[in-house]
Amino acid sequence: MCGIFAVIGTSNNAPQLTFKGLSDIEYRGYDSWGICFSSDDLFKTIKNIGFLPKTFPEQLSQVSLGHTRWATHGGVTIANAHPHSDCNNELILVHNGIIENYLELKAGLRKHLLKSETDSEIAIHLIEDEYSKSKDLSSSVSKVFSKFDGLNAIVVTNGTKIVACKKGSPLVLGKLTDGYCLASDPNALLPLTDKLIFIEDNQMVVLNDKLTISDLKTKKEIQVKFTKVIWDYASSTLQNYEYFMEKEINEQPKVIETILNNSAVAEKIAKEIKSAFGTYFIGCGTAAYACLAGTYLFSKFAKKHVNFSIGSEFNYIEDYLTPKSLVVAVSQSGETIDTIEPVNAAKAKKCKIVAMTNTLGSTLYRTADYKLLLNAGVEKAVASTKAFIAMLSEMILLTFMVAGKKQAGVEVLKKSALEIKNILKNANLLDELVNKIAKQEHIFCLGRGLSYPVALESALKIKETTYIHAEGYAAGELKHGPLALITKGTPVIVYVPNDETRDSILANAKEVQARGAYVIGVGPDNNPVFDFFFKVKDCGASSVIPHTVFAQVLAYKLALKKGLNPDKPRNLAKSVVVR
Ligand code: G6P
Repeated sequence: MCGIFAVIGTSNNAPQLTFKGLSDIEYRGYDSWGICFSSDDLFKTIKNIGFLPKTFPEQLSQVSLGHTRWATHGGVTIANAHPHSDCNNELILVHNGIIENYLELKAGLRKHLLKSETDSEIAIHLIEDEYSKSKDLSSSVSKVFSKFDGLNAIVVTNGTKIVACKKGSPLVLGKLTDGYCLASDPNALLPLTDKLIFIEDNQMVVLNDKLTISDLKTKKEIQVKFTKVIWDYASSTLQNYEYFMEKEINEQPKVIETILNNSAVAEKIAKEIKSAFGTYFIGCGTAAYACLAGTYLFSKFAKKHVNFSIGSEFNYIEDYLTPKSLVVAVSQSGETIDTIEPVNAAKAKKCKIVAMTNTLGSTLYRTADYKLLLNAGVEKAVASTKAFIAMLSEMILLTFMVAGKKQAGVEVLKKSALEIKNILKNANLLDELVNKIAKQEHIFCLGRGLSYPVALESALKIKETTYIHAEGYAAGELKHGPLALITKGTPVIVYVPNDETRDSILANAKEVQARGAYVIGVGPDNNPVFDFFFKVKDCGASSVIPHTVFAQVLAYKLALKKGLNPDKPRNLAKSVVVR
């Protein structure tokens, strides 16, 4: 999704720093990019569609703005790529978000020369009008920003000053030894500085030789206080791996271990779940499947009813929330707007909020009353792997804590960490399967009970990395429609753990086999109905973890077989900050 990076300082390396900053947020997904810097009192802009080049030509400047764009308004073209300039190339802007009332605002810009189809460009022309009257950049930016509807962050420069405002879209400020940098993602700043400020909504940052932060509404200055963030940069690099997805899959046993060694916050949250009058797990994409798994885990092992909703749907079923409700929002990035918006609505109803997130300082993290950090380390591949396993692990731990059987939770999680290692050791056993199914157009994944969210997650991973049409189904639903799509050779993955779903799912496997399907069985025991079997030891409540890892490895290997980059699926973004 769109990324912002901006620098102002006394060294002349601002464009180089901007290029490096954009490279560090590449993982969020983008389709075009641009860097602008001031040179001899003029702005020079370099833009292109596609990915950033390996290197950026050396340019000397003390001020620079950069952007990676993920198209929303207007196609993927050089003209639509940011930064955007005013009519005279005196003011430059980068923007994240969507200015929802941009058409209305654009109507007042008839005398301006608009060069793009974006909502972003109108912002810089509106600022140009204000600036031509007042020559005061801060007041011009704040006046224009306050007219925007929607969730936005903008950064503007006139070459001597940078002014930034945000509402609903993330922006972080970093202190350099000789200046400041701003980014939409702390991962771009942390290689340069450990001193950060997470800018709050409706705040304005002004940077020149000094720094001021003020409230956009009251105009009052806010005390500047940098937080020192501890971060291991090396762990966010590829090290000896070819792709981040492979690295992140391999880190999963360690992720579980870290969760088991840091369970104090989970204990507090388990208490809140016990006493809440209604607990709601919400999330999007992969996180939604972790939430769904939570409902099965709590019911089966803690005999407790918890609710689940996809983040983007929760808004429409929030009417029954009360101040006694507990909303557990699950999000790797902590920035997904479809999760943040319903959280804000729940907060307005005085519900307590738990953030289960991987990102310290993220919007969700800051909004929540209780902050459960996943501690999985930076996840860079767009298709989430280790963050999902961390979410599932926290769900299992919380369930057993609520049931008053924490140690049993710890034991099953330890087992699953060992089983992940086994799967990774035996990953070559999947090569034959990969060769067999790589050219297929459709794959079905079936599970019942706790294996249903695993089936959904498996299909999502396969879709994202291979572009094969994959569907996850509750196996019982098969005969209510999808069975019509099974033809000779259609690969069907069935999850067959040693639990109450075993006999029924085997019966479903027979149903698809009778229609010619190529049945891929995953679980502790082989069965004559399987055309291909991948053994995963029984890990009780935690079997969902190694079962998911089977699907992750399969999706990764299928992507490589098809010559695709598993880290950068087309059209997708790592962190989705628009509705
Ligand atoms: C995007 C990513 C998915 C992720 C989802 C939710 O769609 O591509 O991998 O599951 O957002 O992200 P979150 O950061 O809220 O977990």
